[in-house]
Amino acid sequence: MKQDMIVILDLGSEENPKIAREIRALGVYSEIHPHDITLEELKALPNVKGIILNGGPNRVVDGVEIDASKDIYNYEVPVLLVDHKGDEPWPTDDEERKAALSNFIFGICGAEANWNMENFISDQVELIRNQVGDKKVLLALSGGVDSSVVAALLVKAIGKQLTCVHVNHGLLRKGEPEQVCKVFGEELDANLVYVDATDRFLDKLAGVSDPEQKRKIIGGEFIRVFEEEARKLDGIEFLGQGTIYPDIIESGTKTVKTVKSHHNVGGLPEDLQFELVEPLKMLFKDEVRACGRALGLPSAMVDRQPFPGPGLGVRCLGAITRDRLEAVRESDAILREEFDKNGLAGKVWQYFTAIPDIKSVGVRDNKRVDEWCVIIRAVNTVDAMTATVENVPFELLQHITTRITNEVKGVNRVLFDLTPKPTGTIEWE
Ligand code: XMP
Repeated sequence: MKQDMIVILDLGSEENPKIAREIRALGVYSEIHPHDITLEELKALPNVKGIILNGGPNRVVDGVEIDASKDIYNYEVPVLLVDHKGDEPWPTDDEERKAALSNFIFGICGAEANWNMENFISDQVELIRNQVGDKKVLLALSGGVDSSVVAALLVKAIGKQLTCVHVNHGLLRKGEPEQVCKVFGEELDANLVYVDATDRFLDKLAGVSDPEQKRKIIGGEFIRVFEEEARKLDGIEFLGQGTIYPDIIESGTKTVKTVKSHHNVGGLPEDLQFELVEPLKMLFKDEVRACGRALGLPSAMVDRQPFPGPGLGVRCLGAITRDRLEAVRESDAILREEFDKNGLAGKVWQYFTAIPDIKSVGVRDNKRVDEWCVIIRAVNTVDAMTATVENVPFELLQHITTRITNEVKGVNRVLFDLTPKPTGTIEWE
């Protein structure tokens, strides 16, 4: 193992992710583990140089004050107690915190500042090989950042022992399934099963206009298609997953209640339960992107904006029809191309088009035409809970409008959504 590690034991402080990031910023890898980790589990972690026990307001769970086991306190590596039973309070000033952490990590624990993506990848490759042995791993590769990075890491670690299944539900953006096939099937030479399930999804969705119902159908059908593919493959014992640290935080820990259920986990039937391989589960999003870059994935994959699981299905408003689905896909491609060309792609958090289920009258070649309209949305946010509208230059909006009304079949009008969140959510449904 190349990297030293500082372990934070979760005694209920909401500050733990922040401390982990502060330690990583000092160049030392840090992981957070539950307070009741056993000494054996702790010993199994590679290169642990020190332990931080961080208490806090959630230290009391169900009326009982939680603590780590005595074995941990008596273990051979130094233990730092933070905000713990009347100890020195932890500084709130960033510089003081940095100094205190540095003193502990380097001065007391003697850790080396050797956390970087090359070492992380090399350690994870070793850990994955140890976990998987000569067995086979299955991965649902959506083409999103997390699943792409985990796929690339697994390919590096175990090559053809990995099978990636890319389900095209017909609601992906223009060029996405092609890119997944090119990068993973050709360039990385991975075992890739590509399933074009477009007709199957669109048939199920026909006539369904309720957004939650649409989401349920897309999610449920996705699991069924994946399950069918999994049953065709023999001898799979592991399931790779692009779980990242924020997914775990949002799913709740032993001390923090669930914010939302983790959409990456579960859904498969009992007889198809696999052991999980989750090499990114301790990384924050920016670190996942850095990992993908270090693995050589293209920027279009690693730096892409958030894209909802149900994809264009929730941007083709109301009951999905093939003509409007194509129109939203084509207009989205034009918007992305123009944002790219004009330096907005890396700057704006999320931008896309949506197509409502209404036609309006217009003129084309001196003839009256009843056609669809397209809505442009471009927003910035930190946590997706609130969002502001990007001030897109008017000339650029006019240019995009011209392109969309000229190039996208059946669209004669373009609108720009000026609504922040609240009151508008980012998506339209
Ligand atoms: P809203 O529309 O709630 O969106 O302001 C906040 C963020 O969540 C994304 N989003 C989804 N992501 N499945 C997902 O994986 C969904 O059903 C879904 N709905 C919204 C949205 O794109 C935005 O980034």
